[in-house]
Amino acid sequence: MDKIIHKENQKDPKVHHTKERVLVDKTMADSHMDVYLPFKSSPELLEEYIFVDGRIRTGKLLEDLDALAGAIAYKHIDNNDPQAAPVTIVTASVDRLDLFLPKAVENYRLSGNVTYVGTSSMEIFIKGEIVPENADIENGKEIDVAKNSYLDANTVLATRFTMVAIDSSTHKPVQINPLITTSPAEKRIREVAKMNKKRKKKEAEASLTRQAPTAQESLEMHDMFLEFSQYVYNNSKRDGDYGDDFASTLSPDERKPLPDDCVWMSDTRRDTLILCHAQFRNVHNNIFGGFIMKKALELSFATASTFLRSKAPIVLSMDGVTFRKPVYVGSLLSMKAGVVWAGYPHRSLQVRVVASVIDIEKNSKETTNVFYFTLSCTDDDIKVPRVLPRTYAEIMLWLDGRRRRTHGLNARRLLLDDLAPLPHSLG
Ligand SMILES: CC(C)(COP(=O)(O)OP(=O)(O)OC[C@H]1O[C@@H](n2cnc3c(N)ncnc32)[C@H](O)[C@@H]1OP(=O)(O)O)[C@@H](O)C(=O)NCCC(=O)NCCS
Repeated sequence: MDKIIHKENQKDPKVHHTKERVLVDKTMADSHMDVYLPFKSSPELLEEYIFVDGRIRTGKLLEDLDALAGAIAYKHIDNNDPQAAPVTIVTASVDRLDLFLPKAVENYRLSGNVTYVGTSSMEIFIKGEIVPENADIENGKEIDVAKNSYLDANTVLATRFTMVAIDSSTHKPVQINPLITTSPAEKRIREVAKMNKKRKKKEAEASLTRQAPTAQESLEMHDMFLEFSQYVYNNSKRDGDYGDDFASTLSPDERKPLPDDCVWMSDTRRDTLILCHAQFRNVHNNIFGGFIMKKALELSFATASTFLRSKAPIVLSMDGVTFRKPVYVGSLLSMKAGVVWAGYPHRSLQVRVVASVIDIEKNSKETTNVFYFTLSCTDDDIKVPRVLPRTYAEIMLWLDGRRRRTHGLNARRLLLDDLAPLPHSLG
């Protein structure tokens, strides 16, 4: 994997390359790649990935997925011309990622290939599967990419990355090799990928930041206002409790303490600051998207754990995420997380993580990504508390969290139909 990336990155972006990139037709099989992770047979490898509860660290797998997507992208854009201007591949977005990792340690294979090419962007499908210990693992075998895109009972994850090729010196998107299909099955895969691109655009337009709550949601917002107004909000750092008196028609003595099974959304917040060291960069001084995903996922776990007061949560999925701006080496990355939707009898909860780059000198901040994770409490003895919003902005996050939960349940059910008979379920 590293060899492919190394080849393109050996070119010096500061050297002015006048030669136009010659475009060559590429097939899906041309970019196909496999990575084996033999956790069962390699204790050294397992040591790098093992989590405190004995499972495989999901965040570390996210890093591998991003690195694999990058290597596949480089394989697709390669035109075997050492004189061509150097191109950098960046992660533009990652589709929803559902995880079905078993509790037991298994050997995994990650594999994928380019499924759709626009002008400068390409979609890459990647799946992870359990590989039996005695499996016949052969490199260099002719790949049937259509067959490889099927999901089955051994599948533990499947996702799609969009990678964009930019000129290494001007940082402008550049045209990449076109993708040709070699069978009706591959043509179908490309059509699905094309439809995905359109769907993502539509979904982004339907978000609550662009579309007001529905009539039903507006009614629920009022119910929620009436509910939180009856509880004492004792988080005010000021003397007295002006916030409550101002926002509620109930006098302080009429208000009740917050029930034990409810937590104010503001009390679920967990923040972290990360120094982006050179070890997490690609050669063009950008921090890997996979590193940022890993950090966000680990913060979502910490946030869910402190909310549940247990190490029982597991990550079920990550919603689609966009990488809006590059993060450069030396940046100070701020991550803020909070539980935006949770409540008994459901066992799953939604955690939002906002990643921003802080410019220390200018004292300014720029948001680079917003992540949404679904986690589930695996301890049946724990009653998942209800998270209670208190401001209009928090209610928007709560509604958005619930919309995402509904969407996620449907998406996961559809996947589970493909993966049957896997014994995974959502609360
Ligand atoms: C990805 C990036 C280069 C796109 O820049 P841009 O100014 O939006 O460029 P354009 O609008 O010309 O889009 C270029 C291509 O990217 C695609 N694209 C842009 N944003 C996208 C997104 N969020 N998801 C999928 N595709 C996207 C466009 O559809 C277009 O595709 P096409 O050329 O095949 O038609 C820019 O957003 C960026 O640098 N992001 C940070 C990437 C990064 O550093 N990631 C690592 C983690 S920090």
